[in-house]
Amino acid sequence: MPFFGVYAGMCMKQATDVFNDWAHRGKDEGMERGHGPAVREMLDLALGRVLSERDSFSFADLGCGNGWVVRLASQHDNCTKADGFDGAEHMIVKAKTIDSNNGYHLALFPQTKPPQQYDLIHSMEFIYYLHDPKQMLQLIHDEWLTEDGWVVIGIDHYAEHEESLGWPEALDVHMSTFSEREWIEMWKDVGFRDVHAWRANQSSDKPGTLAIIGKKGLR
Ligand SMILES: C[S@@+](CC[C@H](N)C(=O)[O-])C[C@H]1O[C@@H](n2cnc3c(N)ncnc32)[C@H](O)[C@@H]1O
Repeated sequence: MPFFGVYAGMCMKQATDVFNDWAHRGKDEGMERGHGPAVREMLDLALGRVLSERDSFSFADLGCGNGWVVRLASQHDNCTKADGFDGAEHMIVKAKTIDSNNGYHLALFPQTKPPQQYDLIHSMEFIYYLHDPKQMLQLIHDEWLTEDGWVVIGIDHYAEHEESLGWPEALDVHMSTFSEREWIEMWKDVGFRDVHAWRANQSSDKPGTLAIIGKKGLR
């Protein structure tokens, strides 16, 4: 089975190629609409935590797509800097065309090094495309966040969301699948404290986005 797993993973498309194509076809705008309610909930909670500890904040969105969350965060009065990072070239081209005030960077994860450290890192529907999301969480904790910085991440592909389990095959893209409990453990293992998980934008017919927030731990 491990051999088959590796083989299947090697044959699948790269997520960044799939989303580059989506950007060309305008499907990034659908993600902006679809992810909007959960992201607003996540940002509300995260900004409440960050601004209870500092007067202003720098912000980065990892896997930012067309950059809509960067623009949302940058509108906040206390936001001093907002940057977006994504590995799909046309997402970044679009982001730069829409907005010349904030920073958008073509960047592949996990290998990209942060140009600076940020007080709040956000990421929506990105981390499970990586083969080793725990490694990325560790990098966010160790390299991307300022001391006492916060991270908030939204995940729609998780074990308890049964419909999402068919997405890797449907998109022909690797997705790392973990249960809610496994994700939370991963956060604690890499050193995050004050970890809190909830289902954002949940309703009677929708399991919601698994949203997890945490603070950089003491060194
Ligand atoms: C489902 S989209 C979400 C985009 C955006 N966060 C949103 O909510 O609209 C996932 C994004 O992650 C990016 N991505 C996936 N794997 C990546 C990788 N290894 N490095 C950089 N970006 C990646 C894709 O290019 C895509 O734009």
